[in-house]
Amino acid sequence: MSFTVRPVTSADASVLADLINPIIRAGGTTALQGEFAPEALDHAYLTGPQVLCCHIALDEAGAVAAFQTLGRYPGLPDDVGDIGTFASLDRKQSGAGSALFAATKARARELGHSAINATIRADNVGGLAFYTKQGFVDFGEAPAVPLADGTLVCRVHKRFFLQDS
Ligand SMILES: CC(C)(COP(=O)(O)OP(=O)(O)OC[C@H]1O[C@@H](n2cnc3c(N)ncnc32)[C@H](O)[C@@H]1OP(=O)(O)O)[C@@H](O)C(=O)NCCC(=O)NCCS
Repeated sequence: MSFTVRPVTSADASVLADLINPIIRAGGTTALQGEFAPEALDHAYLTGPQVLCCHIALDEAGAVAAFQTLGRYPGLPDDVGDIGTFASLDRKQSGAGSALFAATKARARELGHSAINATIRADNVGGLAFYTKQGFVDFGEAPAVPLADGTLVCRVHKRFFLQDS
């Protein structure tokens, strides 16, 4: 399947909240646990002050398949953005996430960044495989962090080095 990739606008917030909230409700992948109202999603991941770029992938019918955000994150160096990718639950492994990465990489290069960070739950097999497939390498682990129900889950940090590609 081929996808059209474009930058998001605030007008996409409602559709993207409808995409990400079922992923959060389903659990087991993203570290996010609270659902987003469209305005909060816009602020945090789409067009807010900490967002470096965010792109959306549309399928051939113009339906939203996935989005990918790159933002500033506390503790990361100024030239390393933090990435998040979310594909609609009914589109998994359709190539939408991969289609977005070219645009995110291009923006990170434009900003003069050295690398992109991904922090992924250690039990998120699909997320780990996805970033490995894009060329991310392991960059350490964070100690276990409790989920809302108390379950302890480690986080894996992966980095994509922009000068290597
Ligand atoms: C991780 C995620 C973004 C991948 O998006 P996607 O559009 O399905 O990914 P793609 O189709 O571009 O997959 C590219 C490659 O990644 C790997 N991959 C992706 N999902 C995978 C899975 N569930 N299991 C194993 N490998 C997977 C595969 O190698 C795949 O290539 P292939 O299908 O040719 O084998 C998507 O599953 C998702 O939204 N997950 C929930 C949120 C999340 O965990 N995000 C990551 C943390 S921010």
